[in-house]
Amino acid sequence: MEKPGKVYAETDRLFLRQFRLQDVDPFYKYRTTPAVAAFQSWEGYTYADAESFVRKQIAHTPNQPGTWFQFAIALKSSNELIGDCALHTPSNEPRIVEIGYTLALEHQGNGYVHEAVTALLHYIFHTLGKHKVIAFSDVRNEKSIRVLERLGMRREGHLLQNYMSKGQWVDEYQYSLLQSEWMVQEHACRQAE
Ligand SMILES: CC(C)(COP(=O)(O)OP(=O)(O)OC[C@H]1O[C@@H](n2cnc3c(N)ncnc32)[C@H](O)[C@@H]1OP(=O)(O)O)[C@@H](O)C(=O)NCCC(=O)NCCS
Repeated sequence: MEKPGKVYAETDRLFLRQFRLQDVDPFYKYRTTPAVAAFQSWEGYTYADAESFVRKQIAHTPNQPGTWFQFAIALKSSNELIGDCALHTPSNEPRIVEIGYTLALEHQGNGYVHEAVTALLHYIFHTLGKHKVIAFSDVRNEKSIRVLERLGMRREGHLLQNYMSKGQWVDEYQYSLLQSEWMVQEHACRQAE
């Protein structure tokens, strides 16, 4: 099998790896799937946007204050891109980071994002030593809310009309997880094994 490229984390079924040029086609396809884009801010996304995004990510490294880094989620069996998860490191407080995630429609419902984001949280809290992770979800995005709650993240805010999507102001929930809470969860999982 071909080499996966730079791998940041690995699970039973997945690599979280650096983007590569071959990812542009599948990335463009899922970004422009209406059901995938429904609760996202992007509109009128073009193939050129996708290519420019992937090229930037190929040259990027995680944990640079003031930037988003996008990890490609790839199936270990084929190295095929099936989605991505993102890490935002703000410049004003880089110890508190934000995450996001997207999965191609045909791969949803298999637990891949749960598996990928669990590995991402491990990387964030252990390798990067971050203090807190936050995530936002459109209040109507039930699948995303289930992802966050299944990860043990706490809903700590309901933010009214917090972002503009498809021409309307939308409410968001803010979810959070402290490094100390993650360590307790990991310990409990190990005890249960
Ligand atoms: C949000 C989103 C990533 C959720 O995708 P998803 O496939 O439902 O999430 P997971 O990959 O974690 O899969 C969980 C589902 O797989 C099921 N599942 C099946 N096999 C499983 C397995 N082996 N292990 C775990 N879960 C499994 C779970 O029961 C769960 O289904 P449920 O929510 O109906 O109970 C996806 O809908 C998406 O990309 N949406 C568009 C982008 C977006 O809105 N992102 C969020 C904002 S940043």
